Amino acid sequence: MRYLVTGGAGFIGSNFVHFIMDNYPDAEVINLDKLTYAGNLDNVKEYVGNPRYSFVHGDIADAKVVDPIFEKGVDYCVNFAAETHVDRSIGDPSEFITTDVFGTYVLLEAAKKFGVKKFIQICTDEVYGTIEPGRSSVETDPLMPRNPYSASKAGADRLAYSYFATYGVPVCITRASNNYGIYHYPEKMIPLFVTNLLEDRPVPIYGDGKNVRDWLHTLDHCRGIQTVIEKGVIGEVYNIGGGNERQNIEVVDLIFKHLNKPESLKTFVKDRLGHDRRYSLCCDKLKALGWQPIVKFEEGLAKTIDWYVNNRWWWEKIKSGEYWEYYKKQYQDR
Ligand code: NAD
Ligand code: DAU
Repeated sequence: MRYLVTGGAGFIGSNFVHFIMDNYPDAEVINLDKLTYAGNLDNVKEYVGNPRYSFVHGDIADAKVVDPIFEKGVDYCVNFAAETHVDRSIGDPSEFITTDVFGTYVLLEAAKKFGVKKFIQICTDEVYGTIEPGRSSVETDPLMPRNPYSASKAGADRLAYSYFATYGVPVCITRASNNYGIYHYPEKMIPLFVTNLLEDRPVPIYGDGKNVRDWLHTLDHCRGIQTVIEKGVIGEVYNIGGGNERQNIEVVDLIFKHLNKPESLKTFVKDRLGHDRRYSLCCDKLKALGWQPIVKFEEGLAKTIDWYVNNRWWWEKIKSGEYWEYYKKQYQDR
């Protein structure tokens, strides 16, 4: 089976490359990645020279790169490639539209032209918008994205569906909750706060810290995607959530406790514009296919934190130069 994994040098994509390479000895993986600031070949360095793995440095929005890959034969295309950080999308949405929407269109066109067994469009729980306490989103709920990132993901989600409904391209769409795990770029809350604390820097908590996210370990996410590849009904959407809803401040407290850091490093700063209060997924549809999350949040988080403690070489390289320019721009007026 030939997998085309787009965005396979990023956080979840690289975890998925590991998941397939390590668990499916007959699978071949083609990793297509533009290597934006978020792409990092360190995440997949183990596979260099492995005959089952190849890397293509290129843009999913460029048909000249994409078409020849599909022409050689792709069984499963799993589209992770995207601009993914909500704060950056608030600053400048343009790349989000080019990559997340137009890039997905280019991949879908290639799948239509050359054929695939399944096209998995990786989407997010953010497309449902902010969810009232006591409610959970089901796959048939209306999409109400409220920031440029989630709006571009919703566009790609429905575009993928349209290629199924109109042209019969065998598409499945997954909508996952907040992932945590290793190789997470340190602009997102968990790796940013852990690495800041490891340098004894303060952590910037937006608003009152009571926004709720549902945390999903990357291993459970990869298992969920593979379940959809094997058993998902074509044309259908599947939610993938961890079942670990926590207020941000609860997660922050766990990180502080694990690293034994003083309260004085907690700072409450100006909120994110349009900050969604809560996400919550009902995952009964995927559970009916035999999947359920297995990583316990407190254990998974502790192991994740320990990985950043033991792999400073990985994130210290990232937190330099261009990174600090972004950090200053993002946080100095908060
Ligand atoms: P990431 O930002 O860590 O990685 C994105 C990867 O895509 C990078 O390697 C980057 O170089 C690559 N990329 C960006 N633009 C590209 C382009 N034009 N062509 C080829 N490659 C390109 O992202 P992530 O957090 O791993 O998210 C992966 C996917 O999962 C995204 O589609 C995201 O919307 C979705 N998702 C993420 C989460 C989460 O919690 N991180 C949750 C649900 C869904
Ligand atoms: O829900 C799935 C989504 O999860 C994915 O689709 C996105 O790609 C991914 O980035 C993530 O989005 P969030 O905006 O939820 O993740 P982030 O880590 O940026 O923020 C998590 C929460 O922490 C959110 O409520 C905002 C808050 N936060 C974040 C940062 C970066 C802070 O309080 N301070 C911060 O500095």
